[in-house]
Amino acid sequence: MNVENVRRDFPLYERRFNGSPPIYTDSACVTLKPNQVIGAMSRYYREFPACAGRSSHALGREVSEEVKRAREAVRKFIGAGRPEEVIFTRNTTEGINLVANSLKLGNGDAVLTSDKEHNSGLVPFLLLEKKGVRHKTFQFGDLGDFEKKLTGDVKLVSTAITSNLDGTSQPAKEMAALAHGNGSLVLLDGAQAVPNRKTSVKELDADFLAFSGHKMLGPSGTGALYGKLDFLKALNPFMVGGGTVKNSTQEDFEMEDVPERFEAGLQDYAGILGLAEAVKYLQRIGMENVERHEQELNGYLSKGLAGPGMAILGDADPKSRGGVISFNIEGIHHHEVAGILHESANIMIRSGMHCAHSWFNSHSMDGSARISLYLYNTKEECDAIIEAIGKIKRLI
Ligand code: ALA
Repeated sequence: MNVENVRRDFPLYERRFNGSPPIYTDSACVTLKPNQVIGAMSRYYREFPACAGRSSHALGREVSEEVKRAREAVRKFIGAGRPEEVIFTRNTTEGINLVANSLKLGNGDAVLTSDKEHNSGLVPFLLLEKKGVRHKTFQFGDLGDFEKKLTGDVKLVSTAITSNLDGTSQPAKEMAALAHGNGSLVLLDGAQAVPNRKTSVKELDADFLAFSGHKMLGPSGTGALYGKLDFLKALNPFMVGGGTVKNSTQEDFEMEDVPERFEAGLQDYAGILGLAEAVKYLQRIGMENVERHEQELNGYLSKGLAGPGMAILGDADPKSRGGVISFNIEGIHHHEVAGILHESANIMIRSGMHCAHSWFNSHSMDGSARISLYLYNTKEECDAIIEAIGKIKRLI
């Protein structure tokens, strides 16, 4: 992978902040967008700005065809068997909410999540407690604890493959096998995994997989939910309307087939086409190259940052943290670290609880500074980060 060539595809690098290009390291939140993705979105608006699956005129037919091709591109990217198993959503959050609210869960059923879920993987299940659904947690990455908590009442295991707060991952395949042995369904949150390494739903044997487009070069507010076809057919859609029914009378309606029955109302067609272009871009680069690049940079940066006063969250081995370095520096607040990095060197990171308040609260912490690297980051940028953090440490 030639990073300099990659960077030429990203128009943001043409911008200057105090005379210099940005050092963007907040990709676990949202990635930058290449020209190819922006072009695909603009093509929709310029060439066929119509709606799919409804109108039979030329523009309607074109956009329907493009959406079909986009679904196929996403299917291929995650190794799903059939395009109908891919539902377009706005983000991972919507995918998880869709499953949580469409599965027939009720009194006496339990949902098992880890103790490190993003709010999107936690709050939908806390809400279900009002319907009598029990919510249980296991320690993230601890297979022993997972097995112990996997009791007969657990109807659904819902958990992140990779934590957004520190970049560590769980043995999702083994967990899915254990859950299936217990008769539980498995919903994997792939928000921090699908963008960063090859993820195959077949290999994982996931029943559902939710992920976001905006964390993998795609447009903001795009994503997908994969589900095994039979399970999708058995769900009770919770959001219905135009495009989700074949017919209706004043008294009744006939549901559309899967996946259309889950895509209510007019969709973000430009976003869907942009997402397909993002997927193709990543496939051209090769997910193994994306993963290797992140690991190499993380190894270099973690080594450069290590030292007195620096506490890195998660696994000590940077290889286990993908492109994420979540840290605190003794004697200075993480929001201040983020502010100084931005003001002094155009380094853009995220600080706070990263929407994983529950984990930080249970560890009596108020957050961390988080650097998240992606395919466009360079060793030179890591050097700039090491230098800027070195200066902060000398100031304390
Ligand atoms: N989940 C996103 C993050 O980790 C928003 O930044």
